[in-house]
Amino acid sequence: MFLSLQLMKEDFLHKKLEERKSQNAYRQLKLTEGMIDFCSNDYLGLSKLLHPESPSIGSVKHGSTGSRLLAGNYPLINETEELIATFHAAPTALIFNSGYDANIGLLSSVPQRGDTILYDYLSHASIRDGIRLSFAESFSFPHNSLDELEEKLKKATGNKFVVTESVFSMDGDLAPLTEMIAVCEKYGAHLIVDEAHATGVIGKNGEGLVQELNLQSRCFARIHTFGKALGCHGAAVLGSVALRNYLINFSRAFIYTTALPESSVKAIQMSYELFPHMHAERDQLRKLVREFQQTPIKFNKQQSNTPIQAVVVPGNKEVKDVAGQLQAKQFDIRPILYPTVPTNSERLRIVLHAFNTTEQISSLTGSLQ
Ligand SMILES: Cc1ncc(COP(=O)(O)O)c(C=O)c1O
Repeated sequence: MFLSLQLMKEDFLHKKLEERKSQNAYRQLKLTEGMIDFCSNDYLGLSKLLHPESPSIGSVKHGSTGSRLLAGNYPLINETEELIATFHAAPTALIFNSGYDANIGLLSSVPQRGDTILYDYLSHASIRDGIRLSFAESFSFPHNSLDELEEKLKKATGNKFVVTESVFSMDGDLAPLTEMIAVCEKYGAHLIVDEAHATGVIGKNGEGLVQELNLQSRCFARIHTFGKALGCHGAAVLGSVALRNYLINFSRAFIYTTALPESSVKAIQMSYELFPHMHAERDQLRKLVREFQQTPIKFNKQQSNTPIQAVVVPGNKEVKDVAGQLQAKQFDIRPILYPTVPTNSERLRIVLHAFNTTEQISSLTGSLQ
């Protein structure tokens, strides 16, 4: 009796879940211990080095006890922000609890009513969600299209913000940042670059694409996340002193949440001490990317010089079937389904890592013949 009443009360949930199942797009949490990792964003294998039992991480506090504006501020977090700002040649850095929070906190608070935000159509959900929370007007432009961006900038009102990823999370391709910043400067627009998948991977020391192209002084803000190549958790927004002070005062995702604990920030600090020197790992990664790109397979591969390799298998059912066959061979490879990507561009998102081997790559490409 109680159970059926409960079920009735949740009918609306079941209806939506059934809809998902009928689209072959139902998501479930999985455990994949022991499989060959072609899935995680741990590009350099750093998460394995930053172990919680490492003496310097284990010996600091695991709770920050409040918002940064209340009890949650402490010397290590300030020091780490200075380290990050110096490494990325930025005036300041402000740590957020995740990349999702950083995008939400920046984009919801900085652009105001009457302003305009233009964003790449393939931008990550956290960018889109931040924009949705802003009172500014917003429009997408087709992926990497400078012409369309310029057309939209001509009509934009108020302060103008252009948002892009430097390495796109689903296709692994790069934004044309040098050309994009020139267009932004022509129309007085502020460029915001999400470097989530470039951090640790792109640039001589893993600084990201903006610094690789020497554009750091021309960007309004950069977002670097720590949950991917850096092997830990959190993110930082880089920008001017005024931007940092503004976020501390107005960014709700910064103000109304418990700060990261010392243990997390210690891991971030250790990661910034380690990854700049991981040249051998970045070389190995580039070698594996070349090998994967150069080996013909049965499906269409997106052109990508980054560890994110998209193999397009149109259709939710079709891509799930191919992923299932690969998983049965112990490859941890996930299908990316509609509605996460547009219909007919469903794909296997294959992520390469410095710790993958040439043999694993040839065994994988062999399974995709
Ligand atoms: C481009 C991009 N931005 C932001 C994020 C969010 O970062 P985080 O996982 O730290 O919340 C991700 C990944 O999840 C991403 O791919």
